[in-house]
Amino acid sequence: MSTNPLKYTASLLYRVISAVYLLIIRLTRPIVKWGLRRTTGLCELQRICYCEPNGAIRIFSVEECLSKSKNKKIKKLSEYLERAVSEKRFNQTGSNKIISNTVETICSIKNIRPDVHQPFGKLFGDCVSVIYGYKQLLNKLEDLKSTKYDSTNLDHEQNLLELWDSLMSPKQLQSRISNLWKEIGFQGDDPSTDFRGMGVLGLANLNYLANNYKDVVLQVLSHSHHPKYGYPFAIVGINLTHLSYSLWKDGSAKSHVYNLCCQTSSSPVPSILHFHRFYCYLFVEFDKYWMAEKPSTIMEFERIRAQFEKNIRKLLSNRNCLLKLNIPVENV
Ligand SMILES: *[C@@H]1O[C@H](CO)[C@@H](O)[C@H](O)[C@H]1NC(C)=O
Ligand SMILES: *[C@@H]1O[C@H](CO)[C@@H](O)[C@H](O)[C@H]1NC(C)=O
Repeated sequence: MSTNPLKYTASLLYRVISAVYLLIIRLTRPIVKWGLRRTTGLCELQRICYCEPNGAIRIFSVEECLSKSKNKKIKKLSEYLERAVSEKRFNQTGSNKIISNTVETICSIKNIRPDVHQPFGKLFGDCVSVIYGYKQLLNKLEDLKSTKYDSTNLDHEQNLLELWDSLMSPKQLQSRISNLWKEIGFQGDDPSTDFRGMGVLGLANLNYLANNYKDVVLQVLSHSHHPKYGYPFAIVGINLTHLSYSLWKDGSAKSHVYNLCCQTSSSPVPSILHFHRFYCYLFVEFDKYWMAEKPSTIMEFERIRAQFEKNIRKLLSNRNCLLKLNIPVENV
């Protein structure tokens, strides 16, 4: 192996400079924070809540500030919140108490006088509510995803038949096991085996789409029957549950969800409805993209799906991202 000594020295120098730079940042961060606290009289969390815009930008900053904190009491507080999440206590009724405890604790740790800094409590509390509500929702999605479709479970069976009715009514299924399931894009005559890794979450997504966006879903379904560019509606739908779930799980969807929660509600907590609507957005957009690509065969699914995922990830990487369903879908 031949090494160019000049190149080697340059790269070494670069690495040394980078390390020194990082060290300086790390060492000066507490000093800068202390200085700001002295001059503005505000701690970092207050500055974030007062100065950063409402939505994902502020919430990301609070999240980062809490997770980077070396303060033992704040670490304890984070553990308390994680525990509430794992015990599913972060719900519409339960979260108020947890949030008010959290705000009180932060005010006491940071010597913030709640009477003087009244807006802080609400602004900070909302951020915590969104951050931890998202975590708890992820656990719920995980539960649904790992609940296998079970033909002996009446709820599951009812939901499946409901899907048929929403999509195909007045056409009737003659029997539960039927070749007709292929018309809505299942693989064989019994859909129960098609949900695979997505469990009942896949079915819940499809049902939400079919029940809440009737006109749109019928157009999408008709595209899936296109003589040239048709695709298996339900199988692709289940695959898009996978995509939605992955984007939430790895945190990519946070920008959209955080912005959405702050925009819509006075006490923002992410809910499964947000997930379903996100899914509907993906399905409708995927259908548009697929039809525009004019694939010559279903074998192009992997390529088109990968490109679609890339496009969505690009949108989500913008902290101001807020995905909105564009209805109606154009007729083809
Ligand atoms: C919400 O959490 C509280 C505990 O904080 C619990 O008592 C209550 O049953 C929960 N409600 C729901 C709907 O899960
Ligand atoms: C969805 O499709 C992609 C690409 O073909 C594949 O890697 C993935 O496993 C599929 N997921 C499901 C749940 O079918």
